[in-house]
Amino acid sequence: MQGKADQHFDYTLMAPGPVNLHPKVREILSEPMIHHRTPEFDKILSQVLKRLKLVFQTNEPVYMISSTGSGGMESLLVNTLSPGDTVLAVNSGKFGERWIEMAKAYGVHVDEIKVTWGETVSADLISEKLKAKPYNAVLTQACETSTGVLHPIQKIGDIVKAHPKTLFLVDAITALGAVPMPMDQWHIDGLVGGSQKAFMLPTGMSFVSFSKKAQATFASSKIPKFYLDIRKEIAANAKGETFFSSNVTLIKALNYVLTEVETQGLDSLFKSIQRRADFTAEMIQLLGLNSYTKSKSASLTAVVVPETIDGQKLRELIETEFNLTLMGGQDQAKGKIIRIGHMGYIVDAHLMQLATALYRGLEKMNYQPPTQFDDYITRLKNWATQH
Ligand SMILES: Cc1ncc(COP(=O)(O)O)c(C=O)c1O
Repeated sequence: MQGKADQHFDYTLMAPGPVNLHPKVREILSEPMIHHRTPEFDKILSQVLKRLKLVFQTNEPVYMISSTGSGGMESLLVNTLSPGDTVLAVNSGKFGERWIEMAKAYGVHVDEIKVTWGETVSADLISEKLKAKPYNAVLTQACETSTGVLHPIQKIGDIVKAHPKTLFLVDAITALGAVPMPMDQWHIDGLVGGSQKAFMLPTGMSFVSFSKKAQATFASSKIPKFYLDIRKEIAANAKGETFFSSNVTLIKALNYVLTEVETQGLDSLFKSIQRRADFTAEMIQLLGLNSYTKSKSASLTAVVVPETIDGQKLRELIETEFNLTLMGGQDQAKGKIIRIGHMGYIVDAHLMQLATALYRGLEKMNYQPPTQFDDYITRLKNWATQH
């Protein structure tokens, strides 16, 4: 079984976002357009706004923004902070860097906690910093997608809670819906998710929610804003509308996904993503490879490629010869890792496609895995049957 002859499937996307779409989502996306000021859409909108709270695990309202995830990150900043404020920000990879740049662009002072790529931030260090100096907010990714690490959000939430003037703002774009992130219980004050991740939709929407503590800062926040002014959306949602034209097509598809989540339970979504992560762990062990990070998120696995192999070339080979897209590493991890996403529509046939592509790809680049191919496939198939 090798190369193009192995292609039993259409193109498969197993990046850590965007993700493979569910066939039903693809069907909904191709339906005729309807207007957003219609009773039909009004009903969908009210259902979606209610159901989003399930994923955020919050009693507070969740708002939708027609922007990529970064717009949601920006929304958390511009609605709660003012120029001249100071935040403590975790920088553990590309997306930490981005949030810091964003805050600085709005005149917010940033004290950075630089974390070695692949490692988690120390909650104790955050605690010390908060005792030493007043901060308006603590900013962190839940999962830093460039390394796959999962930060100790619950612990940090407990620490920030003791500081009444400090908000805990969390970019959970690659975590929300993939791993537990109960906003209220973990004392998260601002939480953002993105459509192209565990929400299983195309790129183009972000979702945000604010705790009561964060809502109390809206009136005093002085960062100039228009599109992202959440108060407009709050007023519109109260009338059963969105302030700007609604992203009708994605919202319809979102309603399908959220209805499934409601029916099957959020835990079942977490479990299916965790199972894929466990499959990948088994697979890379059989391949003689390791994960880039110990405390990894179930949403993706960053795999260290053998030293003799350029990870970018391996990624390209897998894409061109096996019709499967994974992601490579960024910046300092470029060429050293490949990232496998576990979110989206992934069935066992996709997992086996991944296993074959990775094994054969490594072989083509002159790395011989310690397990024979037939034995490797049999063991992975058995694993999938038993788990
Ligand atoms: C953790 C994290 N934050 C932010 C973003 C940026 O999201 P977008 O590219 O949708 O703006 C991403 C995208 O992959 C991400 O993984």
